[in-house]
Amino acid sequence: MKKIKVFISEEKINNRLDELANQIMDEYKGKDIVFLCILKGSIFFTVELAKRIKNNIQFEFVEVSSYENNESTGKVKLNKDITQSIEGKEVIIIEDIVDTGRTLAFLKELLLEKKPASLKICSLLDKPSRRIANVKADYVGFAIEDKFVVGYGLDDEQNLRNLNYIGYIEE
Ligand code: IMP
Ligand code: MG
Repeated sequence: MKKIKVFISEEKINNRLDELANQIMDEYKGKDIVFLCILKGSIFFTVELAKRIKNNIQFEFVEVSSYENNESTGKVKLNKDITQSIEGKEVIIIEDIVDTGRTLAFLKELLLEKKPASLKICSLLDKPSRRIANVKADYVGFAIEDKFVVGYGLDDEQNLRNLNYIGYIEE
């Protein structure tokens, strides 16, 4: 059994989600929003953040992959596209973590072609020291050091997503 250390507790995540939700409600007053959830890692964050927001929210899902055996391959693949038009809509991409930035750079380009009214990025975690592609999240839950983390949607080879906190694997 792998031993997991708590890195960001559920309470800390909840408090930060309250703040992020307030910030988004302030900036999108009276507007409908599309939450574009990146499967699978962002499902927990998407749901928990959306429940705190009073605006009407529509949901779209994309699935991309770039990781194999916990290493970024550098090539991003779109496995599942959105199913409704986002033209003229206020879209926020909901991501679990910005690492090299390649996933978001790829998705941003793809989504801008679909002509949303606006396109922003909200990421639960950010590892700025790992950045390769030139992309920046508009909303960030926590900036963290270069450490492989699991839980709250983030996986270790598809496992450990359903931890209610963010942890790391103790060697
Ligand atoms: P990027 O394209 O390098 O920014 O990678 C983004 C994706 O890599 C994220 O959406 C995660 O799925 C995955 N990833 C990056 N760092 C971690 C980590 O520390 N734990 C789990 N998954 C990660
Ligand atoms: Mg992901």
